[in-house]
Amino acid sequence: MKYLKNLFLILILLLIISCDSKPVHGKNGMVVSTSTQASKIGIDILKQGGNAVDAASAVGFALAVTSSSNGNIGGGGFMVGHFADGKTFTLDFREMAPSKAYKDIYLDDNNNVIEGKSLTTHFASGVPGSVDGLLKAWRDHGSGSIPLKQLLEPAINLANNGFKLSKYEANRFNKNKDFLSKHSATKLIFTRNDREWKEGDIFFQKDLAKTLTRIASKGRDGFYKGITAKLIVEEMKKVGGWITYQDLDNYLSKYREPIIGSFNDYNIISMGPPSSGGILIIQMLNMLDLLQTNLNPPLDLDFNSSDYIHLLTEIERRAYADRAEHLGDSDFWDVPKEILLSKSYAEDRIKSIDVSNATNSNDINHGLKMIKESEETTHYSIVDKDGNAVSVTTTINSGYGSGITINGAGFIMNNEMDDFSSKPGVPNLFGLVGNEANAIQPKKRPLSSMSPTIVLKNNKPFLVLGTPGGSTIITTVLQNILNVILHDMNIKEAVSSPRFHSQWLPDVLYYEEGSFSNKLILDLKTKGHDLKQRGNIGEANGIMINEKGFWGGADYRGENTAIGY
Ligand code: DON
Repeated sequence: MKYLKNLFLILILLLIISCDSKPVHGKNGMVVSTSTQASKIGIDILKQGGNAVDAASAVGFALAVTSSSNGNIGGGGFMVGHFADGKTFTLDFREMAPSKAYKDIYLDDNNNVIEGKSLTTHFASGVPGSVDGLLKAWRDHGSGSIPLKQLLEPAINLANNGFKLSKYEANRFNKNKDFLSKHSATKLIFTRNDREWKEGDIFFQKDLAKTLTRIASKGRDGFYKGITAKLIVEEMKKVGGWITYQDLDNYLSKYREPIIGSFNDYNIISMGPPSSGGILIIQMLNMLDLLQTNLNPPLDLDFNSSDYIHLLTEIERRAYADRAEHLGDSDFWDVPKEILLSKSYAEDRIKSIDVSNATNSNDINHGLKMIKESEETTHYSIVDKDGNAVSVTTTINSGYGSGITINGAGFIMNNEMDDFSSKPGVPNLFGLVGNEANAIQPKKRPLSSMSPTIVLKNNKPFLVLGTPGGSTIITTVLQNILNVILHDMNIKEAVSSPRFHSQWLPDVLYYEEGSFSNKLILDLKTKGHDLKQRGNIGEANGIMINEKGFWGGADYRGENTAIGY
């Protein structure tokens, strides 16, 4: 019976993938995001003469309206850009810990983590970075032809005049009704008294429209100063003033040194600390590269063969163990970046890999935390007619962040403080453990897994991609790169293919429901892996570029749309 159920699920999955395995084509530009309205707004900006960065900023503000659970201006993110002339930038607009934050803030008198404090209270929020980041990118790297008002106008219109809820968004509100009802300002906007939300209901966000209008007329000061700042500070006064005027004024998005690596004939550009994504992706590609060239006899590295899954799991185990110990905000912690990224370090790390047996992760108790199954971060990829490419991942962390809306300002605050290590060895929401490198300090940024990435071929953008998914972001981006480079998939097949994930601790190999055959499960168990089935892993949105144009791949998981022109 179980066998039949598995077979059935695999057939359904194959059907989904084969029915819709064609990417969307465009010759002049491509936007892939989690919202049809936002993708359309991005394309409109490109058609109006904006470049990929203008479009990325406009999409970011639009998502703040259309995708409340994740795309919010109450949060932060990372942007990776590569221009046709070869210029590259990586911008960090991650939240910063308020000045009142301190190492043990989430511990009780007995040194135990206080359940929920870093997730669902006012203290869960870092100082939001999205507004500063999106505006900085637009100002420094935009075409100069799209004024600020034009950039924000589509988002303001959506918030003010309302937009029709998709079935997916309506269901998401309904599914989260209890959580959205806990805070009065949140309840007023995101729940209905009379009935549940339905597809086609018009969703208005008047306060958010006012906040966006202030940003459109005053730029950064429309958020970090004046009325918006006052509303944030007043909300925070309810708990004694967690985020202050000073904290808001001090917020600064920062350009970081891009993380660069290579695999086969490709160069990879990704995000550095305070994201762990870039370093881990390159580390893992380095290990795989050595294994694929050195193993004798060579292993079967076919897509999702048991050897392939085993090797990637072993590689992931080692990379995530390094993450827990060595990675944190490099403004506060000396991240041994050069060593971690070097081929010689990879050579050292793979010495302990046994090609037929799983290594045991050590015995640190990973607690009872479940890895979440819904994707509450968002990724979008954009390419313009000149071949400029932008890859952006933003988040307020878990679904609807802390659940606390800034009264009068209409946006939900992040719960990104949970991405810090509240206590060494105690896992966060995503089961990730950490140590001193990611301990809480005022003004520090919590370690992230977000991995907006651009892959170059002959020094030109070839892939633009990223995904939500907490700790699974890094392994999802890795698998997507390999799906195209090693397994010859088009971008739509790449993002839609079944995925698996492991992260050192907990010592488990997760796979998407119905995606592994019984034989594969048995093979992997024989090698010593502890397997667990789970829901969707990530929602990858990517673009592939070749001589025929731009190819958009929107993940079938969730509600993603690729639009080209
Ligand atoms: O920055 C991070 O790594 C997390 N805050 C991302 C959270 C996320 O992807 C939630 N979606 N499942």
